Amino acid sequence: MHGPASSLCQALVDRLPLVSAIHWHDEVTSTNALLIQDATTTPTGTVHVADVQTAGRGRRGRNWYAPPGTSLMLSILLRPGLPRASWPLLTLMAGSALIQACRLVIPDDPARLALKWPNDLLLDGVKAAGILTESSDNAVVMGIGINTDWRSVQVPAGVQATSLAHATGGDIDRWQLLDHVLGHLDTHYLQAQADPGGVVRRYIPDCATLGSEVTAHATPPVKGRAVGLTPDGHLRIRTSDGRERVVTAGDVEHLR
Ligand code: BTN
Repeated sequence: MHGPASSLCQALVDRLPLVSAIHWHDEVTSTNALLIQDATTTPTGTVHVADVQTAGRGRRGRNWYAPPGTSLMLSILLRPGLPRASWPLLTLMAGSALIQACRLVIPDDPARLALKWPNDLLLDGVKAAGILTESSDNAVVMGIGINTDWRSVQVPAGVQATSLAHATGGDIDRWQLLDHVLGHLDTHYLQAQADPGGVVRRYIPDCATLGSEVTAHATPPVKGRAVGLTPDGHLRIRTSDGRERVVTAGDVEHLR
């Protein structure tokens, strides 16, 4: 498997202040795990990109699996100049960057893409990408997995997933998408450092969760209408008794 051309990687490092190095792997355990295990010594802005992960990590301890050639999977290590309490905002920030990048590869249908709080990208309401943010000491690792072309893949029974190629009907250039994703992360990360309050403002217009009837699989589960986000990026849900509950983490199911 060929990775991105070294000239593209160099051009991204030269162009984007966020990115200090890009490393390609035909196969790796997990790009997030690589960065987390060496977090104290790894330079800020280091990016790992892989074609295959043998122990890819999803949220809540789940696996993240993608067959060869079907996905763009990358992680970046950052040391945010934000108070630790604000770090959860970085997942929302990455969501905004991700949706804008993906809209560039399906320019005719921008409204088919939406964000599901807190970390999923949906295409026509079905998951096409996810974000896993992990932290270690003073570093944050943001991992992004985008299903680029799953048209020839048998999606396992019970798994609800789609890929960007279902929207275009044609091939997706993964390295062009890498360029878009890192470019938008660069812009959004800079904005988040300067104006953390703006992260939620920028996220809201693309968030399909808001206004939907949802079940948040928190402990205990919360069912109701998602009515907004707190300034910290937590989800506000109005339950049938008219009270408002704030959910800080957990999977959210859109009921309608
Ligand atoms: C989720 O939706 O559960 C988050 C999925 C995140 C997957 C990406 S793929 C690149 C990076 N490395 C990992 O091991 N996980 C993230």
